[in-house]
Amino acid sequence: MPKLIVGNWKMNGLAAESLARVEKLAVAVENDSSNNFHMVVCPPATLLAPLGAKLKDKAIRWGGQDCHAAASGAFTGDIAAPMLKDLGCDFVILGHSERRGRHKETSADVAAKAKSAHAAGLVAIICVGELEAERDAGKHESVVGQQLSQSIPDTASPENTVIAYEPVWAIGTGKTASDDDIRQMHAFIRGKVGRMQILYGGSVKAANAREILHIDNVDGVLVGGASLKPEEFMAIASASKLT
Ligand code: 13P
Repeated sequence: MPKLIVGNWKMNGLAAESLARVEKLAVAVENDSSNNFHMVVCPPATLLAPLGAKLKDKAIRWGGQDCHAAASGAFTGDIAAPMLKDLGCDFVILGHSERRGRHKETSADVAAKAKSAHAAGLVAIICVGELEAERDAGKHESVVGQQLSQSIPDTASPENTVIAYEPVWAIGTGKTASDDDIRQMHAFIRGKVGRMQILYGGSVKAANAREILHIDNVDGVLVGGASLKPEEFMAIASASKLT
């Protein structure tokens, strides 16, 4: 099965440089012969419309970084799942640790958002992951197990839901989990979610992508910082190649 390579641009990018970046990426994907990945970029909401126009006939899909649980209403500043769909999104990232941590999103909030995403026809990329102190205390599986059981709504299926395991201590820190830690956690998650695709995220870069992408039960990667550099992101995608 092709690997799913997702770029989370977070709150980065103004129109001119970002559209140039995505055009460069689209050309690189077109010229790539490895043929073993699907690529998705999740830019800030402000860029979804122009980016969608650029990518309309290209091999890269796009998605949002969050959505509200309601389909519409008096929620100033929020974005509803049908609005993302309206802009051609196929995906939405939900429950990222930066939202769980800074915006105090609970797993119940994430499940409600995922339900709304499913109703709008979006694939929900549901993020889970433990804090460093939780891993040090040996609680990583129980923390992630609870996040999974409470964040995945009953509308979820392998077709409309992807799980992203992102240990919080590995995000933007340059530290990645060891191969054994990733193998163990992904096997644990596989036991809970069956056929759903499971991504790894946290300081993925060109230099470690091949190793990570070939660990059992790693179906792809969710990339932050390195997804802002087209050559580096493309190198990560090309690392999906079988040999
Ligand atoms: P970095 O790749 O910058 O560590 O970010 C990971 C992440 O949070 C992707 O969602």
